[in-house]
Amino acid sequence: MIIATDRDMRDFGRSFAQGLKASDWVAINGPLGAGKTVLCAGILSGLGYTGEVASPSYAIVHSYEPPEVSVAVAHVDYYRLNNADELDELGLSNERAERITLVEWAERFGSGYVVPSHIIDIVPQTDGSRILTLKMEQNDTPY
Ligand SMILES: Nc1ncnc2c1ncn2[C@@H]1O[C@H](COP(=O)(O)OP(=O)(O)OP(=O)(O)O)[C@@H](O)[C@H]1O
Ligand SMILES: [Mg+2]
Repeated sequence: MIIATDRDMRDFGRSFAQGLKASDWVAINGPLGAGKTVLCAGILSGLGYTGEVASPSYAIVHSYEPPEVSVAVAHVDYYRLNNADELDELGLSNERAERITLVEWAERFGSGYVVPSHIIDIVPQTDGSRILTLKMEQNDTPY
């Protein structure tokens, strides 16, 4: 689908969030500045979070817990991660946990590490819009 503005990206995130459940693991791919963090901010907003969402690229993971969100969320960014072993040190094992996991730059460690429930690819266009593609795991219920 075509996402014309950053506001539309946030709105998409908000409605996409309504179909997510604890244990979902969302891979979010796209180049620098594609809008991955804007999308995650929209998803967090859809889960009830009212604060500012900062990029987790330095901390690698930002955790959100109820009651600030309806379901626990780990907002992760693999951009500055050097190797997959660091994920264990950060408590981000390859098991699907009882929380929603949103991963920017998920493709950096290949698709074999975790099987995502959703894969979102964002491709910036020259006019500032973004082409967003959503793939879901086959046996996940559509939102
Ligand atoms: N159609 C659009 N969708 C999303 N963001 C847009 C759009 N048009 C402009 N923007 C702007 O692009 C920027 C996207 O920044 P964002 O931090 O979300 O990117 P990112 O993919 O997370 O980058 P990084 O790889 O550094 O983590 C924001 O400043 C946002 O306002
Ligand atoms: Mg980002």
